[in-house]
Amino acid sequence: MAKAKTNRRAPVKHRILVLNGPSLNLLGKREPHLYGHETLRDIETNLKKLGAELHATIEMRQTNREGELIDWLHEAGERFDGVLINPAAYTHTSLAIADAIRAIDCPVVEVHLTNTHAREEIRHTSLTAAACIGSIVGMGTFSYALGLRAVIDYLNAPTQH
Ligand code: DQA
Repeated sequence: MAKAKTNRRAPVKHRILVLNGPSLNLLGKREPHLYGHETLRDIETNLKKLGAELHATIEMRQTNREGELIDWLHEAGERFDGVLINPAAYTHTSLAIADAIRAIDCPVVEVHLTNTHAREEIRHTSLTAAACIGSIVGMGTFSYALGLRAVIDYLNAPTQH
């Protein structure tokens, strides 16, 4: 007897670009009382592990330049399915990054290590968060893991968001 055909498809692999702004390359030694002891490389390793569980490929980048973040967002619109971004200090100043997020089709989630709302007043405003589908702040490096889950969940069921 012919074997019944199963209808099981391999899950879609989402391509996620993770962007990090100024001075995040110094995580681990930068103001550890605020940002902890984990490095950007540690965050990348953990995100890649989680990405494998969630059927996503992770590409992590960091730059100290606003224009480079904008170029990478434009690239994400062409080559990736979703973006996690920690714009660092540009969060509070960059209309240009907010516009770049709005200019692309793929969903973007903003993440911050610290609870920016509990810090200096200038950090209470995010120009970029309003352009994103959501944001996660204050959970340390776990903010990135939560952000990854959020963007993948959105990609799997965009109509429920
Ligand atoms: C940060 C918060 C920003 O206010 C700050 O400029 C950073 C890091 C965070 O992840 O907590 O560089 O984005």
